[in-house]
Amino acid sequence: AHSENGRLKQLYAQVSQLYHHILVNTKLGESALEYLHARGLSDEIINEFQLGYAPTDELLQAFFHEKKIDDYQLLRRSGLFSERKDETLKERFNDRIMFPIRDQMGQVIAFSGRALTADKKVPKYLNSPEGPLFNKRKILFNFDKAKKTIRHTGEVFLFEGFMDVLAAWRAGIKNGVASMGTSLTTEQIYLLEQTATKLYVCYDGDAPGKAAARRALELISPLHKFELGVVLLPEKLDPDEYVKKYGEASFADFVMQNRQTELEFYLEYYKQNKNLENEHDQLEYITAILEKVAQVTDPLLRDLTLGRLAKEFGIERVNLESQLQVLLTRFQ
Ligand code: CTP
Ligand code: MN
Ligand code: MN
Ligand code: MN
Ligand code: MN
Repeated sequence: AHSENGRLKQLYAQVSQLYHHILVNTKLGESALEYLHARGLSDEIINEFQLGYAPTDELLQAFFHEKKIDDYQLLRRSGLFSERKDETLKERFNDRIMFPIRDQMGQVIAFSGRALTADKKVPKYLNSPEGPLFNKRKILFNFDKAKKTIRHTGEVFLFEGFMDVLAAWRAGIKNGVASMGTSLTTEQIYLLEQTATKLYVCYDGDAPGKAAARRALELISPLHKFELGVVLLPEKLDPDEYVKKYGEASFADFVMQNRQTELEFYLEYYKQNKNLENEHDQLEYITAILEKVAQVTDPLLRDLTLGRLAKEFGIERVNLESQLQVLLTRFQ
């Protein structure tokens, strides 16, 4: 007999195939397929990621009925349904593009469904609930496919979302994973530690994305496990929007040419909301940067940053160094 988890995985595999079939082969999926094409996704990538469509009809119930899958407890625990007051099951995903979420082994363990419209009343992405198979904190979207390239290159790109990973994939960046939102977890970092030595944070270029990139650095940096980099996208774009606007080739170029070190990122980041003509703001800025410099162990990186600060503000380097010493004794 199969374990409960094994049976759930089997169920998810079947449902994933079904949603994909509905999207690519049926009239029901036509407008969803059109939506994905309009967003620049080819049939090839739709197949590669087995994207699907959950229609509004009671699709799963009919399907399970036909397959003689009638284990009500299993279906109830699957997260594919919610329960009505009279205990009948109601499908969780309706009229949504379905992204299968896979574990490290490539087995589907959850779904995220994207609404086709920008209706503010429904969440843009609806995820499977947490359960025996799906603990969102421990999962990175696309880690299963990306890990081959990550092992090979030692490098991983961290994105926010599904469409960003797909956009990067189209641009030839196959070692992209998504934290599925802006709150990266330590468990997700542990997953990457085992395979990567260089980690590039490539979050959305909007204000929440930048703030989240800073939080990610603060979480990862103290571990001293990765060489860290940040890619800040222009014009508040996310990777998917960048690809749409400037093309796939341009995205790959941009990423390769705009990988900042952690400290370069902070040099820009702390300029937000500051008037650097003003001495008070200058002091605040320099102190904030020096505090970050104090936490970085790479002597070359520290040296470069001190040089930049000295030059930009016309300060004697030796003064920056003595201030850094003060901070260093505080951090040790
Ligand atoms: N997310 C989520 N639930 C939401 C909104 C976002 O789980 N209600 C997650 C998704 O994994 C999403 C990621 O956070 O991909 C980043 O969110 P956002 O930037 O808002 O969405 P995009 O990825 O840009 O999605 P799209 O391009 O389809 O609009
Ligand atoms: Mn089309
Ligand atoms: Mn975002
Ligand atoms: Mn986004
Ligand atoms: Mn987007």
